[in-house]
Amino acid sequence: MSDLFDPFTLKSITLRNRIAVPPMCQYMANDGVINDWHHVHLAGMARGGAGLVIAEATSVSPEGRITPWCAGLWNDAQMEVWAPAVAAVKAAGSVPGIQIGHAGRKASSHRPWEGDDHLDPHDPLAWEPIGPSPIAFGVHLPRTPREMTLDDIARVREDFVSAAKRALAAGFEWLELHFAHGYLGQSFFSTHSNQRTDRYGGSFENRSRFMMETLAAVRQVWPDHLPLTARFGVIEYDGRDEETLSESIELVRNLKREGLDFLNVSVGFSIPTAQIPWGPAFLAPIAERVRREAAIPVATAWGMDDPKLANRAISEGQIDIVMIGRAHLANPHWPYQAARELGIERPAWTLPAPYAHWLSRWE
Ligand SMILES: Cc1cc2nc3c(=O)[nH]c(=O)nc-3n(C[C@H](O)[C@H](O)[C@H](O)COP(=O)(O)O)c2cc1C
Repeated sequence: MSDLFDPFTLKSITLRNRIAVPPMCQYMANDGVINDWHHVHLAGMARGGAGLVIAEATSVSPEGRITPWCAGLWNDAQMEVWAPAVAAVKAAGSVPGIQIGHAGRKASSHRPWEGDDHLDPHDPLAWEPIGPSPIAFGVHLPRTPREMTLDDIARVREDFVSAAKRALAAGFEWLELHFAHGYLGQSFFSTHSNQRTDRYGGSFENRSRFMMETLAAVRQVWPDHLPLTARFGVIEYDGRDEETLSESIELVRNLKREGLDFLNVSVGFSIPTAQIPWGPAFLAPIAERVRREAAIPVATAWGMDDPKLANRAISEGQIDIVMIGRAHLANPHWPYQAARELGIERPAWTLPAPYAHWLSRWE
């Protein structure tokens, strides 16, 4: 069985270890164009030793941003600025990944440290959110989205395709479609947000259609030798968990048939009243079930940052790679520290020679 510091190969890509930095929005871009901060953030994470660094939720269109300060990939100017950040991640030995998405009814919001709520509709920076149905998330996100037309659905799918092409041109080697956290993909699947009566709502097949078609279209332009992955909320903690989970696993099997290579298992976040059992590794058993029943390699995040626990989740076959988020913000060298804690004397696994040489005798 593998452990945290064994390499992981998927398609033509090999990660130097099983540690990934999950996508973490910085809300620091202007007009979707990233800047020196994103460069420092991503390169810093890569230098810290993770095998995979996934850049933040990057919008496929202006209206798909969570906030006015989210990163984008809907034009070439944005793409050109990603390229040097991607190169820096590679120079530090990590595989560069990116998450592309559309925030759906959760779009047009303030940054977390400025309230995390919807912008006032009259704010000049605000725009009209769209979604499968005119149903608001509620509480701090009260705006009712405009119901998407069939043309909107086709356009957003093509926006994903264009963003995927630009991600490839910028040098990314791992693509994650954001189908989680109550954003657009997830909101088509969840009956909490989708009450359509056309071919995109109602039955399991219809609620799956947006994600299935988007994935299939992206697969056409994302090379076969590179991992095409998704983050998906397989469970809502809304009291219907067994039903949701079995539907989700069926969807993952179908996505796999359309070319999905890997799943980042997460929570749906479709309703504000979810009873989420926060705690260390609470999603690991769920991820393990998806991995087994859908026969697909998986990762999960959320409280995995105790090195022994992360190592066990991998060696016991619950997950294939582990996502370490906030602990990486606190300490980008989390992988190095984890190796020390686990007593693993293999400094070459994670750090470039100019660091590894000097740190090879622990003490
Ligand atoms: C600052 C910040 C930004 C985040 N942005 C994203 C994002 O862009 N996309 C996403 O899927 N999850 C996002 N998340 C969730 C993280 O990817 C991760 O799932 C979460 O932090 C839980 O993992 P942890 O317990 O290791 O921190 C974000 C989390 C943080 C702390």
